[in-house]
Amino acid sequence: MRARSSDGSAGDADYGTIGGGYARYRRPEPRITALIEQALDGARTVVNVGAGAGSYESPRCTVTPVEPSASMRAQRPAHLPAAVDGVAERLPFDDDTFDAAMTTFSVHQWPDLTAGLREMRRVARGPVVVLTCDPDRVRDFWLYEYAPAVLDTEARRYPAIADIVDTLGGRAEVRTVPIPADCVDGFNEAYYARPEMLLDPAARQSCSAWSFVEPEVAERYTDRLRTALDSGSWDDRYGQLRRQSQLNGSLVLIRAVP
Ligand SMILES: C[S@@+](CC[C@H](N)C(=O)[O-])C[C@H]1O[C@@H](n2cnc3c(N)ncnc32)[C@H](O)[C@@H]1O
Repeated sequence: MRARSSDGSAGDADYGTIGGGYARYRRPEPRITALIEQALDGARTVVNVGAGAGSYESPRCTVTPVEPSASMRAQRPAHLPAAVDGVAERLPFDDDTFDAAMTTFSVHQWPDLTAGLREMRRVARGPVVVLTCDPDRVRDFWLYEYAPAVLDTEARRYPAIADIVDTLGGRAEVRTVPIPADCVDGFNEAYYARPEMLLDPAARQSCSAWSFVEPEVAERYTDRLRTALDSGSWDDRYGQLRRQSQLNGSLVLIRAVP
């Protein structure tokens, strides 16, 4: 298992460095929350692994959040339960402790995906719900033209959907999650209709893939996008997206029952 960083980060990104503004830019999108609640299917007790600042934790159930990064735990709002300091690969719970388990935007960062998913399966009696991105679809986004190494990084980090499904076992459903044009959770594709948002350094920092490219490269990519926006060339090519109410991109929800 990878050594944890000074703030406890246990994945491939160091939230002690990049996590400061996370909760401001990465808020839970209500239409995605609704899909996750539906997938949890009335579970009363849920473990949320890689819980971060608490996005997508439903008030309809008792949630036990697990989060290794102190910086992320510190951003949890007061109305949510404090997170247990722990890692996916070794969950500090007995078998079948929870009705369900969930994880959102986290599996791509785990050093040992198989161990983490097996742990989720072990501690949950019912559904395991995973919100993640399909690496085969990550590069189908206009950002690839402006920031190729960022999306190459994403495509490399996100595990194959088939591997997640196989490891969880049982019966699995995979569905594409539509991304609304005004999505309040600021991952890269959330800005498909608002490209100007990606000119904001804090918005980029809240998408961990940007931390894997050198600052000069990120600067060059941002300049490229700024120039395309200023000249109108982005709008010539992709401007119709500004009027498109939702995008079916790489975001998927996996639900596996034993
Ligand atoms: C992009 S954030 C997502 C946070 C939250 N789930 C959300 O949807 O906003 C990824 C989270 O996964 C956590 N993480 C990384 N590696 C982990 C591991 N091995 N076990 C548990 N959590 C991990 C990070 O600390 C971080 O909080």
